[in-house]
Amino acid sequence: MNILLLGSGGRESALAWKMSQSPLCSALFIAPGNGGTEAYGRNVAMSPLDFEAIDKFVADNGIDMIVVGNEDPLVAGLTDFMAEHRPGLPVVGPRKAGAMLEGSKDFAKQFMVNHGIPTARYRSFTAETVDDGCRFLEELEAPYVLKADGLAAGKGVLIIDNLDEAKQALREMLGGMFGKSSATVVIEEFLSGIECSVFVLTDGHGGYRILPVAKDYKRIGEGDTGLNTGGMGAVSPVNFADEEFMRKVEERIVRPTVEGLIKDGIDYRGFIFLGLINVKGEPMVIEYNVRMGDPETEAVMLRIDSDLVDLMLAAAKGDLGSKEMRISPRAAVTVMTVSEGYPGSYPKGRAITLPETTDDDTIIFHAGTARDAQGQLVTSGGRVITVSARGDNEADALERAFRTVEKIDFQGKYFRRDIGRDLLSRL
Ligand code: AMP
Ligand code: GLY
Repeated sequence: MNILLLGSGGRESALAWKMSQSPLCSALFIAPGNGGTEAYGRNVAMSPLDFEAIDKFVADNGIDMIVVGNEDPLVAGLTDFMAEHRPGLPVVGPRKAGAMLEGSKDFAKQFMVNHGIPTARYRSFTAETVDDGCRFLEELEAPYVLKADGLAAGKGVLIIDNLDEAKQALREMLGGMFGKSSATVVIEEFLSGIECSVFVLTDGHGGYRILPVAKDYKRIGEGDTGLNTGGMGAVSPVNFADEEFMRKVEERIVRPTVEGLIKDGIDYRGFIFLGLINVKGEPMVIEYNVRMGDPETEAVMLRIDSDLVDLMLAAAKGDLGSKEMRISPRAAVTVMTVSEGYPGSYPKGRAITLPETTDDDTIIFHAGTARDAQGQLVTSGGRVITVSARGDNEADALERAFRTVEKIDFQGKYFRRDIGRDLLSRL
């Protein structure tokens, strides 16, 4: 098969790495890819949002399946566009109606309420109902959680301790703090607990498989301090997400989500990312995403023993049948190196040196890298390169990953040395 993968981050590097190992994959194209993805296929200078160009590329190159890495094209309707222009072409990623689970927090909350899926109590407000919003804040206890309804590049959630500041933030959000994305604001109850990420591959007809569970580390600073980032590292498995917890997740969240989509007439074929919080042993949904997580994917892919292309193709065709998702009992981790200044502004174009070899259980995934005119590998993003490693346990995997992280060199490199440490101390 000829496969087109859309995206350019560490997540897409890990997907490309895994997909390129499939006997079903004869040619892999990554659009636009990054400075490392040519190790798995051919980079194509094409935006995932340029539907016309994608359509032409599919025709010219005999593409048999499209895998969408990030949410933007899905929310913009790529899957609907392809269904119209290339009927029958398998696309991994939901149509616009399903992508609303990530594209609108108000929609996602309503969906959860309709289908009895546990989530924080909430209400939504617009500029017309701002006074009601302030009254609702008064009913809640601090801290206050305010979320821009639409996509805001991961920045649209504010958690505020003080009531007056929360009211002020509500007014500012509705006044355009996040542009159109915050024309509606969801205010919800604060949930206290520890978070994890659960990924589900579903075929739109009730079939689903649960991927390895992971935990990511969102803050820039050690000990989970400082600004939120795209993610500084991840580990899988997650020791508190034990069998009993995962049974609750499947019964109370995964199944009602998959069945709820069908009941609502939404044909969802692709990955569902459940951002969960463990509140005293009970799983609740913090958010849905309609794609895999980044950097969770860079750990999760190392634990999938089955052929992912085979599974994705079956899901995209609408029938996962009896296909197995075999998961390795070994641990996997990923540690992200970032540019100094990230998640604020950061320099680009700095030369990167990588170790020449790694052992078989250690993989370097590029995220924000590019090749300059001379072919030299340079930094091109905030999150630059991540090192993933497998081991017999989490500590072993972490040791391998950090050993290689130390050997990656670019000016201003930063990484968190405490990835996974909170879980080790829970053992
Ligand atoms: P989201 O973009 O919805 O995932 O929110 C970003 C982060 O804000 C989450 O990963 C949580 O750490 C935090 N968060 C969101 N909603 C809540 C909530 N209701 N209670 C506590 N923390 C939350
Ligand atoms: N790691 C969180 C995300 O991908 O949204």
